[in-house]
Amino acid sequence: MTVSGSHIGRWMASAVAALVALAATAGIAVAQEAIPRLVTQDGRHALIVDGAPFTILGAQVNNSSNYPAALAEAWPAVHFVGANTVQVPIAWEQIEPVEGQFDFSFVDHLVEEARRHDVRLVLLWFATWKNTAPKYAPAWVKLNPERFPLLVRQDGTDSYALSPHSRNTLEADRRAFVALMAHLRRIDSRDRTVIMVQPENETGTYGSVRDYGPAAQALFDGPVPAALLERMGKQPGTWAQVFGDDADEFFHAWAIGSYVGEVAAAGKAEYPLPMYVNAALRDPLKHQAPSSYASGGPTWNVMDVWKAAAPAIDFLSPDIYERASATYEAHLDRYARPDNALFVAETGNDTMYARYLFSVLGRGGIGYSPFGIDYTGYVNYPLGAQAVTEETLTPLRQVYRLIAPWQRVWARLAFEGRVWGVSEPDDRSSQTLDLGEWTATVGYRRWQFGQPDWTWLGPLADVPGTERPNGGAVIAEIAPGEFIVAGHHARVDFNAKPSTDGKRRMVLRVEEGHFDGAGAWVFERIWNGDQTDYGLNFTDRPRLLRVVTATY
Ligand code: DGJ
Repeated sequence: MTVSGSHIGRWMASAVAALVALAATAGIAVAQEAIPRLVTQDGRHALIVDGAPFTILGAQVNNSSNYPAALAEAWPAVHFVGANTVQVPIAWEQIEPVEGQFDFSFVDHLVEEARRHDVRLVLLWFATWKNTAPKYAPAWVKLNPERFPLLVRQDGTDSYALSPHSRNTLEADRRAFVALMAHLRRIDSRDRTVIMVQPENETGTYGSVRDYGPAAQALFDGPVPAALLERMGKQPGTWAQVFGDDADEFFHAWAIGSYVGEVAAAGKAEYPLPMYVNAALRDPLKHQAPSSYASGGPTWNVMDVWKAAAPAIDFLSPDIYERASATYEAHLDRYARPDNALFVAETGNDTMYARYLFSVLGRGGIGYSPFGIDYTGYVNYPLGAQAVTEETLTPLRQVYRLIAPWQRVWARLAFEGRVWGVSEPDDRSSQTLDLGEWTATVGYRRWQFGQPDWTWLGPLADVPGTERPNGGAVIAEIAPGEFIVAGHHARVDFNAKPSTDGKRRMVLRVEEGHFDGAGAWVFERIWNGDQTDYGLNFTDRPRLLRVVTATY
């Protein structure tokens, strides 16, 4: 019998995995990577993967790409953009089509495929809620409203959504999720290919601010739970007494948050991966009535309710499909908080979104993941692009390849709090960053040479590739007065602030280089002359610069 090396390798790998699983079940310590975790210190956050901070440069596949043939059409797109992490749904109907009988064949396939393609995974648990509806629940759940009741609207009619007040539903969902997490522990405790899990997807309810069924109403008329009173700094009372006009929505957020938190906690008891929830968003700038969005989901106005209700959830994430830069930035501001790590769990895959990666990183975000990155032919225009092709994915590829080679260095510096980042606003105006003793002004639509007002040879032509806003830049301070700068279609000008110590300051040296695998800077060349006389000019080529300033 001839056995190829790769067969032996695969056999060895599965034998080792089986041993690890056996040892893990028996509680024996085995050599393995530490489990991923989220850490927060001084209001900053890091996702720790393989023992060190990690930046998710993500890609989410389409909803129904959770089967082998469709998944095969995701890998070329994932590779083209250069994502390091892929988000893939795992549907309740898929793993428990018959109650109590589990089928993890797709999970096994997915994890093996991710390893083969050298990416990490975030699993999306589509169960009681998927865009607020139970469409991914198994038929035995959907067809049995006596056992798994629907939410009741104020007028007494049934909603399409399941009630968050049903123990039956919660326990059935929890059992399946626990089985999934136990399976992950068995197959992935050594490799840690799966780095995070999203229990449920876009929770909340459209068309009803809360559940008005008898069980829900009895709770609504009762006292607000102590954990929530404490979090919100409120005195005891009924929901209406404590929260007034917000009572219905807060009650619903508490109900859904507690439910999801209980599912997540039970899953973590099996295998404690970081867990987050994603939000269908509420307007970040204007007042919106809860009847006009997914009430009870983790929208910005109920983040504290969710945090009190679901301590097992590590953070709440926005799904951002707003193209306007001011709105996009406002959504980021809502979710980047000292008590909430910023992870853009979904965003559009159209060309103009890619630049917002810089805004996410500048706020110390742990990751960013556009939706619909596969070649199955499905497009979610107008949220995303009209076609998913190499052409439409090129901006994402360009911004990812600027960050990917040093994403771990970046994640460490972000955790230490010495990073800045901006993306080009819709009005194309420059932005000035305060770096301490220096400022950096990021401008757009500049040629690499000269100033925009140098028109004595005639009007300047438009800079190719900057027809629409697509620029941005990130800066990290790696030592006092020493900065790493990367940008895309942007000019970065360093300016010393007025001296307060009587000394002068200058940019002494600009080096182009890269970080090696150990995170050490590797010098390639000095930029000087034309390359620095008119600022540091970034095109669509990936360039990393080290800017050394001096005092004299
Ligand atoms: C947000 C949801 O979370 C996704 O699963 C998907 O349905 C998009 N909306 C729209 O494509």
